[in-house]
Amino acid sequence: MRLIIEKDYDGISKRAAEEIKDLINSKPDCILGLATGSSPIGLYKELIELNKEGKVDFSKVTSINLDEYIGLSGDHPQSYRYFMNDTLFNHINIDKNKTYVPNGKAENMEEECKNYDERIIELGGIDLQLLGIGNNGHIAFNEPSEELSVGTHVTGLTESTIEANSRFFDSIDEVPKTAVTMGLGGIMKAKKILLVASGKSKAEVIAKLVEGKITTQVPATLLLVHRDVTIIVDEDAASLLPKNK
Ligand code: F6R
Repeated sequence: MRLIIEKDYDGISKRAAEEIKDLINSKPDCILGLATGSSPIGLYKELIELNKEGKVDFSKVTSINLDEYIGLSGDHPQSYRYFMNDTLFNHINIDKNKTYVPNGKAENMEEECKNYDERIIELGGIDLQLLGIGNNGHIAFNEPSEELSVGTHVTGLTESTIEANSRFFDSIDEVPKTAVTMGLGGIMKAKKILLVASGKSKAEVIAKLVEGKITTQVPATLLLVHRDVTIIVDEDAASLLPKNK
């Protein structure tokens, strides 16, 4: 595991965007696993700038996102499809037909999940999976639990996640209680993993992650057995790390 500490959010955004730019430049038709939330917004802005400056070309890239709320259609402003279009896809030269986000309105969710996993296999696997991390250690919407799922699945969201995500909605009651999410298998099979975290609220979970013990109660700790993980944090998120790390 490679741990990079940058000064602030701006620093992690620039550094993470560089990693993604380098991958695309070395493999123009790569498969990018993408995430939503506050953590990647800055790095998406950087990628938009790099694309405008002609330093990175998305025309052959395929993207596949981690998750989506159940019950929200892609044109709902709080859906993750909408977020991705609005924050990144509408501003870069990616072919939207090659951007995948689970369909939270699918009639048959079981089928949707199965197809999503098959799509990842058909695409030849994810070259780089970008991740944020929940304050409770979730990655995608794999919430702390005794058992974790391997494949894409429908899941309930914990109170702490509903609370954390309510900042994007008018009221907490509007936050969907369920989501469709890639499982740990889909994430762990990615060739490279890039996790970004910023702010004091992530300090405790980052310290847990770096501690070196695996528990399904902090799903991100499973990343410790992946062979190519880079974690980029700012000084606030690194503030509870032992000094020698
Ligand atoms: C988003 C996702 C979530 C977030 C996590 C952190 O697609 O899968 O796991 O990465 O909840 O969210 P932020 O970045 O908003 O703190």
